[in-house]
Amino acid sequence: MPVSLKDIGRYAALPWHCLQLATHAKSFENNPLIGSARLNALGLHVQRRQLAMAMARFRRQGMASRLEAGEREHFEENGFFMRENALPAEQFAALRAELGALRSTGWEMRQGRAVTRRVSLDRDVLGQNPATAAFIADRGVRDLIGYASSNTGGITYQLQSIIIDAANADQDPQTRLHADTFHPTAKAWLFLDDVEDDQGPFSYVPGSHRLTPERLAWEFKQSLGASRSGEQMHREGSFRIDEPQLAALGLPMPRRFAVPANTLVVADTSGFHARCASRHASHRVEIYASLRRNPFIPWRGAHLFALPWIADHHMRWDIRLKRMMGFDKRSHWRFVEALNAYEAPHI
Ligand SMILES: [Fe+2]
Repeated sequence: MPVSLKDIGRYAALPWHCLQLATHAKSFENNPLIGSARLNALGLHVQRRQLAMAMARFRRQGMASRLEAGEREHFEENGFFMRENALPAEQFAALRAELGALRSTGWEMRQGRAVTRRVSLDRDVLGQNPATAAFIADRGVRDLIGYASSNTGGITYQLQSIIIDAANADQDPQTRLHADTFHPTAKAWLFLDDVEDDQGPFSYVPGSHRLTPERLAWEFKQSLGASRSGEQMHREGSFRIDEPQLAALGLPMPRRFAVPANTLVVADTSGFHARCASRHASHRVEIYASLRRNPFIPWRGAHLFALPWIADHHMRWDIRLKRMMGFDKRSHWRFVEALNAYEAPHI
């Protein structure tokens, strides 16, 4: 049988795909080993899942003493931290004023009627905005994000706007419940505005960060067909789930985070979460932070992006590098030179 160029390419990439098994790579579509129904029937996905979870438990043990006991217990049970009045009123007012006036480089992405805007909060911006800089330097907040992610250092902070043109019940892919990936990973939001229940709030299924026997069986089943799923995000390893399926996993219905301004939410987004459908046009602004690392490394921190100079500058260089490589032409994200969080969308 003649060997096609495609076959040669596939074999040449095999060592790379093998190496990726030891990283946070999650795409059932792009990695034929991760996506292999045969290997997953032998337990590849569930073993990566279990090993990643065991490593996260190990790393979290070393971080537990940094947290207040009640907050940590709440997290262990639910998968998220929540602090109302997260900042002293004066600091919050100053931070909100700074960010309301800020104009900085950033990106916009449209998904149906929802536009996500992210504005860089890099060293140059923070040098001129002290209340924002104080929040980003806050050890206590960093510890919450680190614990949720089971890692330290290298947290990315951005100013994010979610702008919804009109009711979008079925036109926003973020409204489908999903897990971001197969290992603990953190996202955090400090809401600058009140989030009403009909404005597409964040929702999270309490306890869905735990790898119970029921969850593991569900993961096994998903892993067998994920590479052939009709849904792109599912093929990419962010498994989707419908609300009626939650009860079979022993899980409650999602909790909706309709919360006042100055609320901080930090979630392990390997648990099921979504943006609720918005019933009308809305525009909300938040500081958004994320931390995702290789789940198989036993130590916390001590990686490239945790080095102070790189942590300070990597957002701006990331933008430059992605523009040089034409990333903004290939992805849904569009680069905008000077953005304000509260202005109308450019795309
Ligand atoms: Fe997500």
